[in-house]
Amino acid sequence: MHWHPNPTERRAFHSLKWSSFPEQELPLWVADMDCAPPPCVTTTIEASVAHGIFGYGSEPKHFRDAWVTHLQTRHDWEIDPDWIVPIAGVVPGMRFSLMAHPDIRHVLAPSPAYPYFQTVPRIEQRTHHPIKLHHQAWGLEPSFDAIDDQLKALKAPAAILWCNPQNPGGTVYSSNQIQQLVSIGANHGSLIVSDEIWADLILDDDQHIPLGRLAPTTQPTITLMAATKTFNIAGFGCAVAIIPEPATRQRFLDTQIAMPHVTPLAYAVTESCLRDGWDWHHELLQALRTNRQTVLDWATQHPEYEVTTGHATFLAWIESHQRTDVSEHFAKRGVRLSPGKPFGSETAVRLNFGCSPATLSEALRRMDAR
Ligand SMILES: Cc1ncc(COP(=O)(O)O)c(C=O)c1O
Repeated sequence: MHWHPNPTERRAFHSLKWSSFPEQELPLWVADMDCAPPPCVTTTIEASVAHGIFGYGSEPKHFRDAWVTHLQTRHDWEIDPDWIVPIAGVVPGMRFSLMAHPDIRHVLAPSPAYPYFQTVPRIEQRTHHPIKLHHQAWGLEPSFDAIDDQLKALKAPAAILWCNPQNPGGTVYSSNQIQQLVSIGANHGSLIVSDEIWADLILDDDQHIPLGRLAPTTQPTITLMAATKTFNIAGFGCAVAIIPEPATRQRFLDTQIAMPHVTPLAYAVTESCLRDGWDWHHELLQALRTNRQTVLDWATQHPEYEVTTGHATFLAWIESHQRTDVSEHFAKRGVRLSPGKPFGSETAVRLNFGCSPATLSEALRRMDAR
């Protein structure tokens, strides 16, 4: 696994991260990494190019097996392959989950959170109820009693959109916490949609607990997963919704009519990573731990910011104690970070440390300027 120190050539290939802002700014915003994916990705693409015909595709025979094996070996979750619904992305999966439940008018979602946790309920014309998260030593945590109270007060069908590991806090929720959430969902008859796209980017010894592993298979839950963050292949839209409860799954499947499907290459690349990408992944985690430490060292020099990095992701959440223009403040110094407002905090920014140590050090040096 190798970082590209300053991959300006990504602009020529229309990278969202590298093409959206002036060239003098170092982009540490949208969540992809400045490295090539595991070698199996290139091999898979080369085989497809050598074949040279690009017609309609179908789900590869071993795609589900790859997920079943992956969930069993890495997350101790035994699933039935029939529970899997392949979809073209986790964010579309959030939206399909709400489309499948027009009766649910209220959606609880963590705040701060990845912007689509607000946008999807809004665009689906549901009322968004933030679950306030609080800064803790290793991440952002909710009060589960408060979630229970919010649902009690609603007295109407609701969905909970959950994110574990959490973006932007990097929190890895414990088995006890997931169990509490599952029980709250069951007590209130709420649908739980758990976005677990970061499940395989845990940097420490913590274990990822898939929500669907703890919930009874009769409870309506939708667990969304993908290989795209883990292996840096976000340009290939491919994800899975894992839905044990048959009626919930059928409703979700009904939303798939006339929707874009996973492309043959995206299926093939995902399957190859789940099978052959783990040596690369081992090196990646080591590199990300080093970068996280660099960010934490920077944070100790900057008490004017409250910096949250959790046990997972390649993200740091930086809350300013002093300014509301924090994103523009850093942009003027030549570093483009994700502004906090769409996440739910006007005084914060999110930094992506999935880049070379040289790029990260240069960005933090620029951010030092007062
Ligand atoms: C929590 C979370 N969910 C979903 C996504 C995007 O998912 P997809 O590209 O599969 O739609 C991201 C991307 O950063 C994310 O952080």
